[in-house]
Amino acid sequence: MRIILCGFGTVGQSFAKLLESRSEDLYARYGLKPRLVGVFDTGGSAIDSSGLNISKLIDAKKNHNSVKKYSETENNTSGTEMVNELEAEVLIETTQSNYNDAEPGLTHITNAMKRGMHVISVNKGPLALAFPSLMELANYNQVLFRFSGTVGGGTPILDFAKNSLRGERIVSFDGILNGTTNYILTNMANGMSFDDALGDAKQKGYVEADESLDLDGLDAAAKLVILANWIMGMKVTMPDIKRTGIRKINNDDIKRAAGKNSAIKLIASCDKELVVEPKEIATDDPLCVSGTLNAISFTSEHSGTQTIIGRGAGGTETASSILRDLIDIRNESTKA
Ligand code: HSE
Repeated sequence: MRIILCGFGTVGQSFAKLLESRSEDLYARYGLKPRLVGVFDTGGSAIDSSGLNISKLIDAKKNHNSVKKYSETENNTSGTEMVNELEAEVLIETTQSNYNDAEPGLTHITNAMKRGMHVISVNKGPLALAFPSLMELANYNQVLFRFSGTVGGGTPILDFAKNSLRGERIVSFDGILNGTTNYILTNMANGMSFDDALGDAKQKGYVEADESLDLDGLDAAAKLVILANWIMGMKVTMPDIKRTGIRKINNDDIKRAAGKNSAIKLIASCDKELVVEPKEIATDDPLCVSGTLNAISFTSEHSGTQTIIGRGAGGTETASSILRDLIDIRNESTKA
């Protein structure tokens, strides 16, 4: 299986390493022989139709901050050129989420689908802004589109709701879908001011380069869009979400909630409407997780409410979700 990898940041590199370390097992258990034939980052590209050497790729990135010096001659093929010209079966999109126009990820995904490639995206931007039309494009071109890592990182939230609860009708759900704001609110519940809690989260590397994505609830809203489309069959995008972030929460609000055995959490909910906002949650509710954890409670018609909890971010965790999607694509595409 030939793969084009868009982006070679933390997640892209973790995925490449995972492919290398799991190669024998992937072949023995799933008959899967993945080959990275093209990789690009903001500095340049690396291409080899017979498969790139992953250790060499990682070294190039480490020494030159780009894969462009993978071979002696610098490769300046642009991402779009690679997606439009290189032969591959699967495209993996890991460039940064952008909620203004979803580019460049949106173009990578749409062009790859038009060329008949299956697509895996951990980039939330294109899904948040164009989920319904991307699903249509995938169906029209008879390709598979998977995005497990966009919600919950390595925690299989989408898979749980879609597959483990098959036959059920999910009527509503509530989730803590952003680890950074959960970490900040947890710190505040332990007595820190908002500014100190944000500073601590930044120092630990949790906060997105554009802090607004976390603090103003954009990241949580993007995940809510994905869940609403995939799990509830809605056809919605970012503007359909009512969104309030955590910037206005102060220590008095937190203390007041604690007095009622509750904690304030940034909750993404799907019930009568789609909302992201800070809410008081009882501390004994399974949803009330602390630190950077994510949690989501699905309520279904016959089987009650179930909560799934796990780490919602991280390079290796998200890379493991890409591998899951790749195995799924392998299984689905060989059925036909
Ligand atoms: N900024 C996100 C979070 C990263 O804090 O959960 C994972 O999507």
